[in-house]
Amino acid sequence: MANAPSITASVSALPGIDSFPFFVAVRESPTLMAALEIGHLTGISLLIGTVIAFDLRILGLNRRLSVSVLARHLLPLGVGSLMLIVPTGLTMFAVRASDLLTERLFLVKIMLIFAGGILAVAFHTGPYRSVSDWDTETTAPRIARACALGSLLGWLIVLALGVLLPYKLNE
Ligand code: HEM
Repeated sequence: MANAPSITASVSALPGIDSFPFFVAVRESPTLMAALEIGHLTGISLLIGTVIAFDLRILGLNRRLSVSVLARHLLPLGVGSLMLIVPTGLTMFAVRASDLLTERLFLVKIMLIFAGGILAVAFHTGPYRSVSDWDTETTAPRIARACALGSLLGWLIVLALGVLLPYKLNE
């Protein structure tokens, strides 16, 4: 493994990715850039919609609805939305990596996405395991409500950062 590239070398090579011919061609094509944005925004609509619907139910809205039934309907849609968001987001990143890697808002956005993923896993392996005790007509445990509030705020901040970013980059 003596010749394996170090992590530092791999990260410092990232800005150069936007001069690869493929990414230059994507950047210079308004059609491809629009297609990427449409894919990203479609995925985001699905993700934010499912997050808002599920988290508000955990926070106490419409207690008649079964949390576990709602989870079975919404969570696959939320996870599926990432199939659109991540590849389009990574391609849009690759076409202007040099600008984005020095933009603090972008780095905060990516960190919050990771934090949101960790929070979702913590919710499912933690308070959600006892969902049968609070499935309907009952207030969810405090820890579950804290996760829902954190998730709601976190994803809305990610959305806001995504909207702000193009303005910052064009300043
Ligand atoms: C792996 C995850 C993601 C990556 C790598 C990523 C990357 C990007 C990039 C590079 C842009 C274009 C910035 C520019 O050059 O103008 C963008 C736009 C945007 N992103 Fe993401 N993103 C990701 C996930 C998300 C998520 C989860 C959300 C919202 C919940 C989000 C919301 C937005 C919004 C609203 C825009 C602006 C779109 C537009 O102006 O048309 N992104 N993203």
